[in-house]
Amino acid sequence: MPDPKPCVVSLEPGKHAICCCGQTKNAPFCDGNHAGTELRPEILEVKDVAMNVAWCTCRASEKLPRCDGSHRQFWDNPEKPPMKLGKD
Ligand code: FES
Repeated sequence: MPDPKPCVVSLEPGKHAICCCGQTKNAPFCDGNHAGTELRPEILEVKDVAMNVAWCTCRASEKLPRCDGSHRQFWDNPEKPPMKLGKD
């Protein structure tokens, strides 16, 4: 069961590849484990100043790979499986 909390990271200016497949071992960043799937990382460019971003780890967000608060549904039902992988 994935951790039902978002992964909050501070991103420095530059381009970052964010995992959308849920298979990375270096969350929230893409490590290439999407190979062989149709899924690709989201490339996020941070300009000028560092920014904090919350990335979904439960795979229930409607805004994958970003957290939209959907992980809260698992707080009352921790056995409920994640609903999807990747972006729709
Ligand atoms: S490892 Fe998940 S998108 Fe690359």
